[in-house]
Amino acid sequence: MIAIGSDHAGFEYKEKIKQLLDTMKIAYQDFGTNSTASCDYPDFAHAVAESVSSNKSQCGILICGTGIGMAITANKHLGVRAANVESKGAAIWARAHNDANILCVGARLTEWETVAEIVKIFLSTAFEGGRHEMRIKKIHSLTNL
Ligand code: RB5
Repeated sequence: MIAIGSDHAGFEYKEKIKQLLDTMKIAYQDFGTNSTASCDYPDFAHAVAESVSSNKSQCGILICGTGIGMAITANKHLGVRAANVESKGAAIWARAHNDANILCVGARLTEWETVAEIVKIFLSTAFEGGRHEMRIKKIHSLTNL
């Protein structure tokens, strides 16, 4: 199960990503928002991050204008590694080296065709493990977050 959420700026991309997930036959839970009416991105970032942090969802996707506010908020949650991704290359490394479990994208910064590729890469690239395993542990060691 994938947790997905956006604010108003990311709403249209969220709907398009849901269509993409449908074609890929990947199940998701939509945490809103449900329109382009102005709203606060932390509300949706917290909901998606809580779902990932508690293992109700295996990973998450968050979309706002830049991806920045979503990533900052989601990374406050225990066990969450949210990556703000603007390129296909970053999508590969976020998974392979950082074991990112939430993908954040900026609808105002990244064109749709690239976002669609980023989503597909994020969902199909495995964590390499090995030397990166200890580095992941160090991310969470300081504050137990
Ligand atoms: C909303 O205007 C915008 O601030 C939000 O979508 C996001 O970019 C914040 O990081």
